Amino acid sequence: PLVGTKKMFEMAYKNGYAVGAFNVNNMEITQGIVEAVAEEKAPLILQISRGARSYASMSYLKAIIDTAVAENPDIPIAMHLDHGDTVETCKQCVDDGFTSVMIDASHSPFAENIEITKKVVEYAHAHGVSVEAELGQLGGIEEDVVGVAADDVSKHLTDPDEVVEFVEKTGCDSLAIAIGTSHGAYKFKSEPKLAFEVLEQVHEKLPGFPLVMHGSSSVPQEFKDLINKYGGNMPDAVGVPEDAISKAVKLAICKVNIDTDLRMALTAKIREVFSTKPEEFDPRKYLGPGRAAIKDMVKRKLHVLGCAGKA
Ligand code: G3H
Ligand code: 13P
Ligand code: NA
Ligand code: ZN
Repeated sequence: PLVGTKKMFEMAYKNGYAVGAFNVNNMEITQGIVEAVAEEKAPLILQISRGARSYASMSYLKAIIDTAVAENPDIPIAMHLDHGDTVETCKQCVDDGFTSVMIDASHSPFAENIEITKKVVEYAHAHGVSVEAELGQLGGIEEDVVGVAADDVSKHLTDPDEVVEFVEKTGCDSLAIAIGTSHGAYKFKSEPKLAFEVLEQVHEKLPGFPLVMHGSSSVPQEFKDLINKYGGNMPDAVGVPEDAISKAVKLAICKVNIDTDLRMALTAKIREVFSTKPEEFDPRKYLGPGRAAIKDMVKRKLHVLGCAGKA
């Protein structure tokens, strides 16, 4: 069924795993994700960015997700707004039937972030919808917002001394923290490194409170290699090692956001079909294998996150 995230996070927190939050932009991506969680019996968060809303339109995305939910009555699926930019966007999504929204006012000063987040919480809670907020800044690119440069990420980590006041004043239900990850395929200039000490401190200050990790793709070597082999050009791509993700989910991380790895799986497969079968021009002959590649990637992630078998 279509559900909220409250129960999902309670279970994840207690049992030391995280729920995968995967970005959806079209039918094939959604089907690949949902087929994987159905086979692995995992809870699921399908998330929609502003970019996804403008690409596919909300009514198409909603219809696709409603269908996925109807076809998988045993799987808890939440529909979540990824990186809501304004109070208005969040309210719109509450009205559109989302069960969870993120307000990302992390680029605003602390007091303003609190004010904006609080307004979203008031509206969302009145409609039974949960709110994810963010403190600290991630690097990389999301839609038209350019984040902190990859080599500056460490200067914008979440300040553990701010989290209690932030959560108390806003009433948010979960908190995205910046511990050195960034969005996209180029997360680190040299060695991948996460600030686990920040995660540990936040975890201590907010016992029982669910935390969220963005920018959690791992940019698996074999997919990078496939893309580069079949005419792509992303030689310097680096992600978060999967063992670091598995370590974080045992602490308070209850939701892990993954988009880039699904994009890479789809792109690698389509490139492979294009180069090995240049005569092919039926979209089903490359989108179909692309969808299967997404399914395999999601299955792999469910095991990294420990949520397989938890639905
Ligand atoms: O936040 C970043 C996600 O990967 C969504 O990306 O804004 O390009 O849809 P997008
Ligand atoms: P990745 O770019 O690492 O997949 O992160 C996605 C994300 O955080 C979406 O909010
Ligand atoms: Na967890
Ligand atoms: Zn994000």
